[in-house]
Amino acid sequence: MGRDTSLDPDDWDATRAQGHRMLDDMFDHLATLRDRPVWRPIPEAVRARHRTAPPKGPGDLAEAHRVFLEDVAAYSGGNLHPGFMGWVQGAGTPVGMLAEMLAGGLNANLGGRDHMPIAIEAEVVGWARRLFGFPETAQGLFVTGASMANFIGVLVARNQALTPEVRHVGVAASGRRLTAYASSGAHSCVRRAMEMAGLGSEALRLVGVDADRRIDIAALRAAIAADRAAGFSPFLIVGSAGTVDAGAIDDLTALADLAKAEGMWLHVDGAYGALGVLAAEIAPRLKGLERADSLALDFHKWAQVPYDAGFVLVRDGAAQRATFATPAAYLQRETRGLAAGDWWPCDDGPDLSRGFRALKTWFTFKVIGTDAMGAMIAHTCELARELEILVRASNRLELLARAQLNIVCFRYVAEDPGADIDALNHAIVAQLHEDGIVAPSMTRIDGKAAIRAAIFNHRTEMRDIEALVREAARVGDSLTGTKA
Ligand SMILES: Cc1ncc(COP(=O)(O)O)c(C=O)c1O
Repeated sequence: MGRDTSLDPDDWDATRAQGHRMLDDMFDHLATLRDRPVWRPIPEAVRARHRTAPPKGPGDLAEAHRVFLEDVAAYSGGNLHPGFMGWVQGAGTPVGMLAEMLAGGLNANLGGRDHMPIAIEAEVVGWARRLFGFPETAQGLFVTGASMANFIGVLVARNQALTPEVRHVGVAASGRRLTAYASSGAHSCVRRAMEMAGLGSEALRLVGVDADRRIDIAALRAAIAADRAAGFSPFLIVGSAGTVDAGAIDDLTALADLAKAEGMWLHVDGAYGALGVLAAEIAPRLKGLERADSLALDFHKWAQVPYDAGFVLVRDGAAQRATFATPAAYLQRETRGLAAGDWWPCDDGPDLSRGFRALKTWFTFKVIGTDAMGAMIAHTCELARELEILVRASNRLELLARAQLNIVCFRYVAEDPGADIDALNHAIVAQLHEDGIVAPSMTRIDGKAAIRAAIFNHRTEMRDIEALVREAARVGDSLTGTKA
C-alpha cells in the first residue's frame, strides 16, 4: 500500500534535460549524414553486446542513449543517406521525426472512440480523396505499408465478389474459383495477398508486358476470356502505378474500362507511384487512377514520411466496412462520452489497436506542402534521367531498364566473354555497400542480374548519381582486372 509504481520519472527536470540532449543528438545525426558512410557492416562485437537477458533492475536513460548512438544509430540501414538508392525507401525528414515524438508522447490508440487524433486521420483521408480524385463515399485507412494495403484491397474485392457471407462460411463454400490479374512486373506482395486471402497464388495470373513494361491489355483481355471459358470467375485486376523494378505505370484508363466491362474490381498498387499526382509532369500518366475501386500507397516512400505510413483508399467505404467490422460488447459504440465517435477505424481494417501514423503524415504535408513535395518527386525523376544518360554513355555499363520514373536498372559488362556477369554484378553491389559511398540494390531484368538505382531520397544530388556510375565502373574494373 502507498507504493509508487508509476513509471514516470522521479526527476522530471533531469529527464527533460536528457530529452533535449537526445533531440539535439538526432538533429546532429541528420545534419551530418554526408560525413558518414551510407552503410557499415555491423562488427561482431556490436552484435554480441546485444545478445542479453531481459533487464531486471532499472537502467539509466543517458546510458541507454549512449548505447543507441554507438551501437544502433551508427549501424542503421542507410536510407537517410543521400547515397542510398537501394530498394524503394523513403528518407524521412526532421519534421516527420518531430511528429513521431509528439505521437509517441500522446500515445493515442486510433482503433476508435471519440478523440481528436481520429479526426486528424480523417482529415488526411479527406486529403487523399482529393489528391486521388476519389468520391466522398471513399474510406481510407493508415496501415503498416503497401503490402498490407494491397492485402486489404484484395480482401474487399474478394468479399464483394463472393458476397459478405464469405466471412461466415469461408472461401471454399461458394464453389467458385476466383481469379485475379496483374502484370508480370507487379510486386510480390500481391501474390502473397492472394495467398493470405485464401485464393492461392496460382489464381493470380501474371500477364505479359509491352515494351514500356506496362501490362499488355490485349493479353489481359484474352486471359480473362480464357479463364471464363474454363469456368473460372475473374474478379480482380491489379494495376501497377509504378512497378518496383522499372517504374512502369499501367494504362489505368484501359484497365478501368476493362474492369467495368467485365464487372471486375480494379485495385491499383500505387505504393510509391500514386504520389506522382503531386508532380505536374507525372500526373497525366496516372490518368484512370481516380476510377480505381481501391488504391494502395505508402506515404513513407516518395512522400518521405518516417516509417511506417502505408495507406489504403477504397471507393465504396461501405464495402470496406462490410469486410472488417466485427461488433463486440466491449467495443460498444455510444452516442455520448468517450465511447462515442462517428468513425472507428477498427471497422475498416484488421487492426484494433492502431498508432497515430496519421500525425507524421499530417505534419509532413502541413509543413512541406504538396508543391514542394511534387517538385522533389519530379527532381528524383530528373536525376534518374541523368543517370540513364550517364549509363548509356559508359563503355562499361549497359542499360537494362530505362528511367520511366525514378528507377534505372543497368549492369556492368565484363570484357571477358566467359565471365559470369550475374555474379560479377552481385559482387559489385556488395562491394559498393561495403565501400559506403552509394548503395543501389539488385534485381533481375529480362533474366539478367541488374543493378537497380531507385532514387527516392530527397537528399540525393547529381554528385551522388555521378558517384554511382563512377564507383560501379571502378569496382567492376577492379574485380575483373580491367585497366581503366
Ligand atoms: C510497387 C510496390 N508495391 C508494394 C510494395 C510493398 O510496400 P511495403 O514495403 O510498404 O509493404 C512496394 C515496396 O517497395 C512497391 O514498390
